[in-house]
Amino acid sequence: MRIGIDFGTSYSAAAAIIDGDLRLVRFGDARQFRTAVFFPEVVPNVEDFVLTPVLEAQVDAIVRASRADERQAGLPARPEMQLHREAVRIVRRQWMEEQTRAVSASVASFQDAMFGEDAVDAYLEEGTGNLIESPKSMFGYKLDPRVRKTIVSIAAHILEHIRLTATQQFGVPVREAVIGRPVEFRSSMGPAGGEQALGILREAADIAGFDAVTFLEEPAAAAMAYHMELTDRQRAVIVDIGGGTTDVAYAELGGGIAPIVHRSWGLPRGGTDLDIGVSLHSFMPHFGKDLSGVPVHHFVEAASVHNLPKQREFRKQDYRLVDEPFGARLRALQSTGATTRLNQSAERMKIDLSSAPTASATLDFIEADLTIEANDADFQAASDDFLDRMQRLLEETRNDLPEAPGSIFLTGGTSRSPQVQARVRTSFPGISVVHGDPSLGVVSGLARAALG
Ligand SMILES: Nc1ncnc2c1ncn2[C@@H]1O[C@H](COP(=O)(O)OP(=O)(O)OP(=O)(O)O)[C@@H](O)[C@H]1O
Ligand SMILES: [Mg+2]
Repeated sequence: MRIGIDFGTSYSAAAAIIDGDLRLVRFGDARQFRTAVFFPEVVPNVEDFVLTPVLEAQVDAIVRASRADERQAGLPARPEMQLHREAVRIVRRQWMEEQTRAVSASVASFQDAMFGEDAVDAYLEEGTGNLIESPKSMFGYKLDPRVRKTIVSIAAHILEHIRLTATQQFGVPVREAVIGRPVEFRSSMGPAGGEQALGILREAADIAGFDAVTFLEEPAAAAMAYHMELTDRQRAVIVDIGGGTTDVAYAELGGGIAPIVHRSWGLPRGGTDLDIGVSLHSFMPHFGKDLSGVPVHHFVEAASVHNLPKQREFRKQDYRLVDEPFGARLRALQSTGATTRLNQSAERMKIDLSSAPTASATLDFIEADLTIEANDADFQAASDDFLDRMQRLLEETRNDLPEAPGSIFLTGGTSRSPQVQARVRTSFPGISVVHGDPSLGVVSGLARAALG
């Protein structure tokens, strides 16, 4: 059986058309799940190496042995510093080997993977292990072979979770899928990033037990869903504003004739960029951004929770000499799970500000009673960059069209924001905007495409 899979940056969903009806795969009680995986086991990372008293004793023993060797061989005494450095290197290498052995011995770690909000909760509760959120935003980044392998395996786990859940619910083996893809993946390598992203998805689908997968651009999938609603033929613009990307298509739809997608446009930016914007504008000044002499890029690294190398970079910094209260807050932000919690608060604040003029967040995990306040004007300042880019994309689309569209079909979680909706209306003055289901537009179109 073939299903449609929306492998979203923030949320994933799957569906199939069975006997003419759209059937969404349920994940627990929900029709989608947060695209996050938690592995209880710690994957060894050399940057996590710290000299514990036990390891320190091993270093001392190696230094003493080297000295004894020197004396015995009648060689001149080398500086203490040099011997110490060499000894640390040996101990670190042994430590890495041990860690790697421990992880590969526990096959259980991969079988114990958790998905969705449960994954995030387990990570925050346990305070150890690995949480990978929004792996899709890494697919197009320059990855060293080891990290690429990890990302493929994470994507494979997510796809396998979907395949097995669908197989169980539909009662037939699911072995094929139409997977959604953005017009333009988030990438640090230009178009080569998009190629890499598709390669990762193909490899992951293979490991996950799919015999065949094809890809369909997400706005083209959303167009299929809108097509089903239109009795009269019309040319429409489909706008899908998600967590990682904003995708647009121009299509002839409805009227009982096959849909035709003429063109598509993409912007590799979405709701997660708004979260980072809110974090930098409203949260990070409480950690000393622009007030402490700590370089701004440290705050960007701390806010970029979906970028593993940036997170690692932030956690490596030493803030012992930063003025208080910022130093203590930054150190608290370096502890396991703290940037994830901060990002959750920033996302919640963004969502709150989409329906109220003010919002607040309390960051007890950083400092008792540390409260962040924000209002409309803050959100505007935090979101201007994304909104301006989005508006430019829509205006470019409008200028590329041969004639004014019959309507704009708007979908994607970020389209819930009234500020976003206002910019869409401004970009297409006088054209009616039809609101699709923000979460399920793409997956229902993919399910139709999966029918063949
Ligand atoms: N009321 C709201 N206001 C603003 N943003 C919202 C609101 N509700 C949800 N969002 C945002 O919507 C985004 C998720 O949307 P969606 O599920 O369409 O993304 P996705 O399909 O996972 O991502 P993509 O399609 O880019 O890969 C998140 O960034 C979330 O914070
Ligand atoms: Mg999406």
